[in-house]
Amino acid sequence: METLIPVINRLQEVFLTVGADSIQLPQIVVVGSQSSGKSSVLESLVGRDFLPRGSGIVTRRPLVLQLVHVPPLEERRKHDNGNEAANESVLNDCIAEEWGTFLHCKNQVFLYLELLCIGLLAGIGNDPIYLKIFSPNVLSLTLVDLPGITKVPVGDQPEDIEIQVQEMILSFISNPNSIILSVSPATSDLATSDALKLAREVDPDGRRTLLVVTKLDLMDAGTDALEVLLGRVIPVRLGIIGVVNRSQHDLNTRKSVPDAAKDEQAFLQRHYPSLASRCGSRYLARTLSRLLMHHIRDCLPELKTRVTVLTAQYQARLNSYGQPVEDPSAMLLQIVTKFASDYCNTIEGTARHIQTSELCGGARICY
Ligand code: GDP
Ligand code: NA
Ligand code: MG
Repeated sequence: METLIPVINRLQEVFLTVGADSIQLPQIVVVGSQSSGKSSVLESLVGRDFLPRGSGIVTRRPLVLQLVHVPPLEERRKHDNGNEAANESVLNDCIAEEWGTFLHCKNQVFLYLELLCIGLLAGIGNDPIYLKIFSPNVLSLTLVDLPGITKVPVGDQPEDIEIQVQEMILSFISNPNSIILSVSPATSDLATSDALKLAREVDPDGRRTLLVVTKLDLMDAGTDALEVLLGRVIPVRLGIIGVVNRSQHDLNTRKSVPDAAKDEQAFLQRHYPSLASRCGSRYLARTLSRLLMHHIRDCLPELKTRVTVLTAQYQARLNSYGQPVEDPSAMLLQIVTKFASDYCNTIEGTARHIQTSELCGGARICY
């Protein structure tokens, strides 16, 4: 994703300059059954530890995670506080490289992203939690972590929890501007994957569904996911990517994201040498970058038309001010003369007869 950040920033600048809406990147939504590894997958994409996850921890409310790219602190200090992020939180803009805010606790700012877990676990209900993370290290992008597809109510869950969750998931993934990360563990049968079934409902052609197969490391001895990963069990148009996330033990012993990525790569090399370069969290991130690139490419024709029209408009206006001249005072005279004659043409048709030199004198007095 890092390589995309400068590209998007540059394009956003162009969009702003020509007055077009900024590029709306698709939101990335994870779906899957409970404990399939959804939060873990998202976390590996963000590269940080702050999502509540683990075997006992269940995402009850959808989490809409809005990543907002801000320039690095040093750069922000140099410039004045004209940018949007600065207006949103002047204090943090001055002292923090990155920070997070929740919609449900507006005045509270989290300077250490690891502390966001507290805010995420607070509060009950079904409404989505909106979390914004401002950082120089992220792409301005929205990720959605959804509750797992459940069959049986647990604890205080209502009887119709399955339908409720299903409707909630559908409402997010039916948005045509979302990329669906359908998460299925390698330890269960792909043919019965609820995640794929739901994705098919809203994306029958598979134009925006990517299958992520987790827990490759937990398969029974003597079995592997080769057929699944090769798309021979169920083909998925955009691709099938196998990953190894951190295990519960890894979480308990606080294994870092980079260490996990290294071990994942070693595992893939050992067990799936022929596929290792097309699997893993890094490859998943690259694939998503590529999908985002395609999306951006689709936005470009409109931008190009806008730029062409604006260029023509400005060129015409420039031409109407006459040929470029070396001497700035002569150029000014030319512009003022042109302005004056335009002025007269509009105000009164008789102005054509008046000496331009006189008008120039008039213009000087006026200004
Ligand atoms: P979610 O409920 O779908 O969000 O799943 P989580 O991301 O919370 O993961 C559930 C549990 O499975 C956690 O204990 C994770 O550590 C573990 N887990 C997730 N992915 C993998 C994996 O690829 N390998 C192993 N060994 N454990 C995983
Ligand atoms: Na979980
Ligand atoms: Mg989760």
